[in-house]
Amino acid sequence: MPAAVVTLKNTENQDRLIIQNPASGLSLQGRIRVPGDKSISHRALMLGAIAQGETTIQGLLLGEDPRSTASCFRAMGAEISELNPEMVRIQGIGLGCLQEPTSVLDAGNSGTTLRLMLGLLASHPGRFFAVTGDSSLRSRPMSRVVKPLQEMGAQIWGRQDGSLAPLAIQGQQLRPIHYHSPIASAQVKSCILLAGLMVEGQTTVTEPALSRDHSERMLRAFGAELSIDPQTNSVTITGSAKLQGQPVIVPGDISSAAFWLVAGAIVPGSELCVENVGINPTRTGILEALERMGADIQMENQRVVAGEPVADLRVRSSALKACEIAGELIPQLIDEIPILAVAAVFAQGTTVIRDAAELRVKESDRIAVMASQLNRMGAKVTERPDGLEITGGTPLIGTDVDSHTDHRIAMSLAIAALNAEGTTTIGRAEAAAISYPDFFQSLIGIIR
Ligand code: S3P
Repeated sequence: MPAAVVTLKNTENQDRLIIQNPASGLSLQGRIRVPGDKSISHRALMLGAIAQGETTIQGLLLGEDPRSTASCFRAMGAEISELNPEMVRIQGIGLGCLQEPTSVLDAGNSGTTLRLMLGLLASHPGRFFAVTGDSSLRSRPMSRVVKPLQEMGAQIWGRQDGSLAPLAIQGQQLRPIHYHSPIASAQVKSCILLAGLMVEGQTTVTEPALSRDHSERMLRAFGAELSIDPQTNSVTITGSAKLQGQPVIVPGDISSAAFWLVAGAIVPGSELCVENVGINPTRTGILEALERMGADIQMENQRVVAGEPVADLRVRSSALKACEIAGELIPQLIDEIPILAVAAVFAQGTTVIRDAAELRVKESDRIAVMASQLNRMGAKVTERPDGLEITGGTPLIGTDVDSHTDHRIAMSLAIAALNAEGTTTIGRAEAAAISYPDFFQSLIGIIR
């Protein structure tokens, strides 16, 4: 069978990915190792920086986002070795010892860097910090963390009453609170827990549905005192703890694996094995959703690596059917909705995704962008205020689409292009490097 031609063209620092589908179609075969989990990579760098002694990290994601975290914490005194996936060594500076940086901390495109870091900065009395990010991050809401931090006594200033970066922070001795978060957000939860580390007494966060729990797991592993009430989705941290540097092994990112799971499911005649994928139960909503859609995914070689469950995931192509995705499942697959929308385009019936208004304030408005870009290719996608309605079964036709500089959109459109007739050109495809620098090379490697 003739393979697709995949070309990457770079002009003025922007990549155009061109996927030319052969008339007879293509299939995908092989084994893929996805890069390290982005959420765990950020947390390992941050906790390593504020712990005492040495932290070692194996499997760190080398994407742009963790690079932003590393450079911010280096600027505050942490000794972080050159980043590579084999081994990163951090000499931590100890809790409460972040130094006042001499310049603005730049979180780049990374909401996790900025929001989690704010909890730490706000709780460093007597020190002043200025933080910013790229144009996408400067338009994303920060009030979700600024408000609870202000309740704890934080002093933070920024545009629109402190809700937009750039932000200025004058560190304070904070007080403990019990915060009832209106949204299920691991970034909000983690920000408050990190602030709570430096507060006398107990700080509690309650969320409406369970969000990813990597902070809780890693804080405990580093020696923090933490209690969890699963009945109420509440986490309590006891402040003034000591953190001790640890060895961390980062599993492969299920959010990156999701692209291959959907690709393997929708491209006829495909079989892929995605190795070493983290299957933390707060992240496996994508597996549940794809199972509901009739995808053929087997979990092999299940094991626990450094406190996180891991498996190899084997996917074979199969006929998909529409399903409904809503409620408590949403926080468990929030980053996978763009690629799930691609799966839905190739499923029989109308898939409805609800309760996902959060997608509008991600790296791009992922509801609007996925609807507009998939519709350009001939799909039938309708925007809802809080999600998408996708009627599958219409063939896609290759055309020019654009990532809107959002990494997950770039990769989702590339997977859609594998099943589109003719040639698809994805503008600003370099965005994929935020979370998956080798995505296009891996793609080229599995096309048959
Ligand atoms: C993340 C939490 C999620 C997710 C983001 C990473 C984290 O964001 O979308 O990509 O590492 O804590 P929210 O907390 O805003 O839901």
